[in-house]
Amino acid sequence: MPHNLWRIYSSLDSDDIRLLQAVERGMGRHLYVPVELVERYARLPPGRFSRSIRKLSTMKLVKRRVGSLTGYTLTYSGLDILAIHNFVKRGIIEVLGDKVGLGKEGDVYLALTPTGSKVTVKFHRAGRESFKKVRRHRSYALSINVTSWMDLAKAFAQREFKVLVKLEEEGALVPAPIALTRHALVQKYVAGVELSDVKALDRNTATTILSDVLDTIRIAYTRVGIVHGDLSEYNVIFSDNEGHAFIIDWPQYVYKDEPHADELLRRDVYYIVRFIGRRVGVEINLEDALKYVRGETEAPPQL
Ligand SMILES: Nc1ncnc2c1ncn2[C@@H]1O[C@H](COP(=O)(O)OP(=O)(O)O)[C@@H](O)[C@H]1O
Ligand SMILES: [Mg+2]
Repeated sequence: MPHNLWRIYSSLDSDDIRLLQAVERGMGRHLYVPVELVERYARLPPGRFSRSIRKLSTMKLVKRRVGSLTGYTLTYSGLDILAIHNFVKRGIIEVLGDKVGLGKEGDVYLALTPTGSKVTVKFHRAGRESFKKVRRHRSYALSINVTSWMDLAKAFAQREFKVLVKLEEEGALVPAPIALTRHALVQKYVAGVELSDVKALDRNTATTILSDVLDTIRIAYTRVGIVHGDLSEYNVIFSDNEGHAFIIDWPQYVYKDEPHADELLRRDVYYIVRFIGRRVGVEINLEDALKYVRGETEAPPQL
């Protein structure tokens, strides 16, 4: 994966973008798009076509299959570039900055909007982990037509975006979703630290974090009907400025009537109460917390 996507994007001209779009279009039907088809879609004079396709290959934005039938396919970086181009053209971002996190499933970058606000761009990567998740949640696997890494990455991005929209509408503390294209989504940047990096936790802050996180789990469960499914101190960001804790990283959520939903809810809540309890040195009652997030009581557990 190239380190500076923005530098790569900046070095491309309109022929290059057009060619990438042509390869993408052909990938609806071919994993490796026959070169004749790429030419037909790109409509570039031959000299400009070969110059550009060579450049894209060298930059590893497309991969060439040699053999009886020459063809081209997009790489992850090629797809990233098309997503960046889309966000720039729509005026969603003006510049892409450094990576803010390298997670299991995606690469998250900081970006600036034309008005100077900070946002993140998360590129979903469908790798081993995603396939595991898909297998684990079969109902979901059956509802999408997983034909390629690209479809899978797109499906995860779309899933995450849509659920963030619902969660935000219901008042949950999640990063506000801003835009989606292909396998990439833009969210509001939460200026803060991952809960796992919060070393000292005073009782007041711990109380805020616990109630924020449990409230968001409760909203997700009772109003949106879902369970996060991968909650831990690594997917909670505490923002000192805002004085709130936000839950991130939602693509693997399950509906509450799916087979493992109860187990997953229990595990999600357990990780959170265990982490906060340890940092403060008290035991938080798991069953009380579970009753609260299921909407069975109005009183959140106390620290
Ligand atoms: N909206 C955001 N604001 C600030 N940091 C974020 C945001 N989204 C993600 N990050 C950072 O990027 C990391 C990876 O993002 P995440 O959504 O958890 O994806 P992954 O599936 O890769 O774990 C997070 O742990 C966090 O540090
Ligand atoms: Mg994560």
